[in-house]
Amino acid sequence: MIIAVDGPTASGKGTIAKALAAHFGLPHLDTGLLYRAVGRQCALDGGNPDDSSDALKACAFPDSLLDDPELRSEESGGLASRVSVHPGVRQALYERQRGFALQSGGAVLDGRDIGTVIAPEAEVKLFVVASVPARAERRFREMQAAGRAVSLAEISADLEARDKRDRERAEAPLTAAPDAVLLDTSDLNREAAIAAAIAIAEAKCPHS
Ligand code: C5P
Repeated sequence: MIIAVDGPTASGKGTIAKALAAHFGLPHLDTGLLYRAVGRQCALDGGNPDDSSDALKACAFPDSLLDDPELRSEESGGLASRVSVHPGVRQALYERQRGFALQSGGAVLDGRDIGTVIAPEAEVKLFVVASVPARAERRFREMQAAGRAVSLAEISADLEARDKRDRERAEAPLTAAPDAVLLDTSDLNREAAIAAAIAIAEAKCPHS
């Protein structure tokens, strides 16, 4: 069974994807981390993330970079959103994600285009959303817990800028697949959001 979990930044999709993977015993790939690694590698190379050839070069990042805690920063998220607009970058990361989705036994992937581009055949597609204030508050708490100094206003502005870039890009924009189930987590706590996602997946695939 392939489960695609898409949605904007801080909607709760990562938490939900991890919990679904644990519940169904499936491997999980956070595809945003791949784009974050490209953005970070581009910065480390002194490249310009808005330049397609600099961004493409950075797709050859070493796997060890995926363990770099810096990838979780707001700055890396912003860089990821800039490199991810280039079709060459999306193409370079496609096979890795597609291969992960197609492994025998299935997989859970979370991102922006899993249900539309990477695994349109996914049996379960969730599109996780939440209001901007709810998402900003969550991200703020995460950043505080990680000891990162950022203000709520900065996070809100960054989140809206990233949403806009992700929704408006020409290649694989952030959008729900027509057969995705919408899950709004604005008023749900972690447990309730996970329970709702499991119920949706079980209703779609009752024998898994
Ligand atoms: O999910 P996360 O916030 O880590 O993603 C960082 C950025 O990577 C997103 O804002 C988006 O621009 C890009 N991304 C993407 N396609 C994916 C996953 C992430 O374009 N499948």
